Amino acid sequence: MPRFTVLVSGRGSNLGAILAQRDTLGAEVAGVVSSVDDAPALLLAERAGVQAIRLAPARGEKRVDYDARLLATLATLKTDWVVLAGFMRILSDSFVERYAGRIVNIHPSLLPAFPGMHPHRQAIECGVRFSGCTVHLVEPGNVDSGRILDQRVVPVYDGDNEDTLAARVLVQEHQLYPAVLRRLFAGHSVIGPRPEVR
Ligand code: GRF
Repeated sequence: MPRFTVLVSGRGSNLGAILAQRDTLGAEVAGVVSSVDDAPALLLAERAGVQAIRLAPARGEKRVDYDARLLATLATLKTDWVVLAGFMRILSDSFVERYAGRIVNIHPSLLPAFPGMHPHRQAIECGVRFSGCTVHLVEPGNVDSGRILDQRVVPVYDGDNEDTLAARVLVQEHQLYPAVLRRLFAGHSVIGPRPEVR
């Protein structure tokens, strides 16, 4: 069975949704690594009996040095797949190349719209009538730009604010992420060809 590690930095509701379905995913949870020492996600992992590792960056630590420590940790955990769930760091290209095609992220917008920070705020300010969430591969290049694996659409209502929209999208995130992971771990190609950049 392939093994995956979940990288987190905060609340961990997507981690919770993944752990709730862990017996059906066709892969083993190797561990959870947090870039924030007191992230609530760590407690979730511990309560589920999953190895929870605190790996906060040292003050002034360079990205490549942190990523080298992260790679060493993942090697210890014998990780095949890296699953980002609210991990608030950008990974260096060398890290991404080491796990090429085996790093997955969830982003709460319909990519390629609204990558990066505050996607719900961006969606509301733009006046879009639909938003949603995207599970995608993490690949070298711009943030949130890797190949799209699957998406869910959510309506944006008059009077929505960031919190109400985020809550509506989150319900879909919790359904979508485990479903995509199950397909990926089963070896099904949910990945289309990389679109040509014109
Ligand atoms: C989610 O909205 C996820 O899409 C984004 O960060 C948030 C993490 O929430 N990448 P949680 O920690 O999974 O509750």
